Amino acid sequence: MEHFRRPRRLRATAQVRDLVAETRLHRQQFILPMFVREGISHPVPIASMPGVVQHSTASAIEEVRALLDCGVSSVLLFGVTDHKDEDGSYACRSDFILQRTISELKDTFGDSVFVFSDLCLDEYTSHGHCGVLDAMGRVDNDRTLLRYQELAQSLASAGVDMVAPSGMMDHQVAAIREALDDMHATECGILAYSAKYASALYGPFREAVDVQIADGGDRRAYQQDYRNQREALHEVELDLAEGADMVMVKPASYYLDVLAKIRAFCPVPLTAYQVSGEYSMIISASQAGFIDRKQTIIESLTAIVRAGADNVLTYFAKEAAGWI
Ligand code: PBG
Repeated sequence: MEHFRRPRRLRATAQVRDLVAETRLHRQQFILPMFVREGISHPVPIASMPGVVQHSTASAIEEVRALLDCGVSSVLLFGVTDHKDEDGSYACRSDFILQRTISELKDTFGDSVFVFSDLCLDEYTSHGHCGVLDAMGRVDNDRTLLRYQELAQSLASAGVDMVAPSGMMDHQVAAIREALDDMHATECGILAYSAKYASALYGPFREAVDVQIADGGDRRAYQQDYRNQREALHEVELDLAEGADMVMVKPASYYLDVLAKIRAFCPVPLTAYQVSGEYSMIISASQAGFIDRKQTIIESLTAIVRAGADNVLTYFAKEAAGWI
């Protein structure tokens, strides 16, 4: 027995623990997901995500101002609308809530804020799928890409810094890169939701964006099967080859193995999305008094970064920034 080895020496005080900590959280690592809704003048609470709201453009501007004051400088926007149609084309209008909010944010804060936009169709389609449907009611990959290209160009015209395609269509990164380069939007980047799993943890989000998938459907024909890990590495390889500037794993906490594996070979920055279900589970368990809210939030974010994420999309961004 090696009695002279005592790991507890490095745990004895807060000072020495801080000195040897392998993982540190920074405010600049956080990206706040935000919902902007057409036709509202005041923020609307989202019941399934206590503490999260749907914003008007004006209230989004104020929220970003507060966020910048807390030291967080990145946001990712989702649009919410009652105008839904078969192919989500309404979202491509230059006066849609997403485009208007993006340009107001950039006009107001300039480069102080880095603006991502989610790029998908489910929030805007009448059937709630992430793409357009074929005659059989299946999501038509290649026709969907045309819509993604149109939406990407529209978001780039509004001044978005980076688009984040979340639909899990094959070749979506290549199609969007081509569309952006065609309009000389070479500065606009792509954060690929490369390893996005078909997850029960998106449940609370569906209320946030008013999405119901028609006929009790699901997204398993395009999002990844959570039984698979190698498949995620393959998706990342494809997205890198197609020109992704950054890649993402989503959800985060149940997928730390995937994060760690991708980190090991992926040369570009890696984002993790701590999704609505992860958020609401922590909120409800802490409201019930079962866990400590602050400790659990910090532990969850630290674990995600320890596993290999360079930055984290989290609804806790503002709150957590106040603690670190
Ligand atoms: C699809 C999209 C979803 C989320 C982000 N983008 C939902 C889905 O794929 O069903 C979920 C985010 C969250 O749960 O916080 N556009």
